[in-house]
This record gives sequence, C-alpha cells and structure tokens, in this order.
Amino acid sequence: MQIIRKVSDLLDFVAASLDNGKSIGLVPTMGALHDGHLSLVEKAVGENDVTLVSVFVNPTQFNNPTDLATYPRDEESDFRLLAAANATAVFAPSVEEMYPDGTASDHVFSLGTAAEVMEGKFRPGHFQGVAQVVCRLFRLCRPTRAYFGEKDFQQIAVIRNMVASENIDVTIVPVPIKRAADGLALSSRNALLTPEQRAVAPGIHAALAKSIDFAKEHSVRETIAMVVDAVNALPHMEVEYYEIVDGRTLLPVEQWSESPDVVGCITAYCGKVRLIDNIRYK
Ligand code: PAJ
Repeated sequence: MQIIRKVSDLLDFVAASLDNGKSIGLVPTMGALHDGHLSLVEKAVGENDVTLVSVFVNPTQFNNPTDLATYPRDEESDFRLLAAANATAVFAPSVEEMYPDGTASDHVFSLGTAAEVMEGKFRPGHFQGVAQVVCRLFRLCRPTRAYFGEKDFQQIAVIRNMVASENIDVTIVPVPIKRAADGLALSSRNALLTPEQRAVAPGIHAALAKSIDFAKEHSVRETIAMVVDAVNALPHMEVEYYEIVDGRTLLPVEQWSESPDVVGCITAYCGKVRLIDNIRYK
C-alpha cells in the first residue's frame, strides 16, 4: 500500500490511475479506523480498480475545540488495517498540505435545507467544513465512486447536495451501519467512553430498535417521546435531539403516511461523548 503525504504525489497517483483507465474508489475518513470504516473500504475494493483512503482529521468541521483536541488518532494502526484491507493507497496529509492558504474559506457551499436541521442546528458550521474538505478531496482524487457510511445519515444527504451544486461527476455509494455485537454503532468516539459508559451506550440502539414495533401502534410524536424517555432514563445519557424525518429531505414528518422513506435520527451525550445513530422506519 502506498502512503501519500503530499498533494503533488497524490495528483501523480490519480493521473497515472486514470491514464491507465482505472476506476478510483475514494473512502474519506478521519482515521482511528474501526470495522465500520473497513466495511466502506471492503466495498470500495470490490467495486473499483484502485481504492484510495484519506485519513485527515479536518479541523474546519469541528465546532468545538475540545472535540478536535480529544479526537482519537492512531496512524500506525490505521495504515496497518488499510494495508490488510487491500487499499491501494492512503492519503494522509498535514493540515498545511491540505489547506496551504489557511483553513478559512470565503466560499459558502449551497447545501440545501438538509444541512440546516439536526446536526446543522446543533453544530453550526459543521457541514460547511465537511463540504469544504470533501469537495477538495473530490477535486484532487477525481473518484469514480465515493463511499460514505449511513451512520452519518445526514452527512450523505448533504454531500449529495454539495456534489449537485458543485457539478462534480462522482457516484455516492451509501454503506449500511456497522454495529458492535451489543448493537452500539461503531464510532471512533467510542474509544473515549469509560467502561461504565460503554456498558450503557448500546441502550441507544436498543431504544431505536424497540421503537420500530411501537411505531406500528403510535403516532410520530408518541414514538419520539418514547425513544427520548428510554434513552434519558439510562445513566450518563442525555438526548440532544431525536427527530423522525423524510429520508431524502431530512425535514421532520408529522404523520407516518407523509413519506415512503422515513428515518429516525438521534444524537445523545454519554457523559461528554457525543454519539449518533439512526434507524429506518420505512
Ligand atoms: P469519520 O467519522 O472518520 O467517518 C468516515 C466514514 O466512515 C463516514 O462516511 C462514516 O459515515 C463512516 N462510518 C463511521 N462509522 C461507521 C459505522 N459504524 N458503520 C458504517 N460506516 C461508518 O465522517 C467523517 O469521518 C468525516 O466527516 C469525513 C466525511 C471524512 C470528512 O472529514
């Protein structure tokens, strides 16, 4: 596996791949890789001639400086896992290499209403930062396909809007959520949980899973209240939001019949660790 640090080397790698008629699968990550990330890599390896994985903790998408400072990093382990997963190359630039003119940007991405709700409301600027780095990665890597996990359900919708508004020719491939055996969605942030917090954290998925049956007999509003109460009843846990939304627009639905595509999206703090998850109702 090739380890690429410099944009100039990345451009050479991409040009050589495209000149040889190879398809490029891109998996953008912030490292601290786990089986969730590796399921994206596995899918990319199966569908493309070349699989390029980026490992870059993007400072512009962190609205909380402590979150950025404590974000887990383990490059050695990341590279080992990516080589074992048959990635062709990893692009792991420094912040200066990625943002040679500084991280500030005067370009405002057009991301639609999908970027204004939920994460957009609670993490101001977050999706502009995500769009900034993913757009830059797409311009540099010129991927045929790019892989994103459904754990960050809203992120996929926002990236689709960015791709449309920036006229980028790439196929966005969503990949299902990978969970631990006890149901907790795998996340780099899980490493920050104390053993006691880790033991209660699967209660988020348990509440969501239970709500599927509950929803058959109750309204959207009642189902939201059930999930929020069940998660808040757990020690260490505090729900930031639980919204039941149209899976395409990400706007809240009030009746189950309103849309053929309905997803529940939750964010809860477990101690100081912010966890996100979601579940599909239909
Ligand atoms: P990061 O949180 O490292 O996630 C990288 C990719 O892995 C994302 O597409 C995310 O949805 C996916 N992923 C994480 N946990 C997963 C799980 N349990 N199951 C399936 N997929 C999972 O998301 C980001 O980084 C950044 O915002 C990024 C897109 C790289 C831009 O900086």
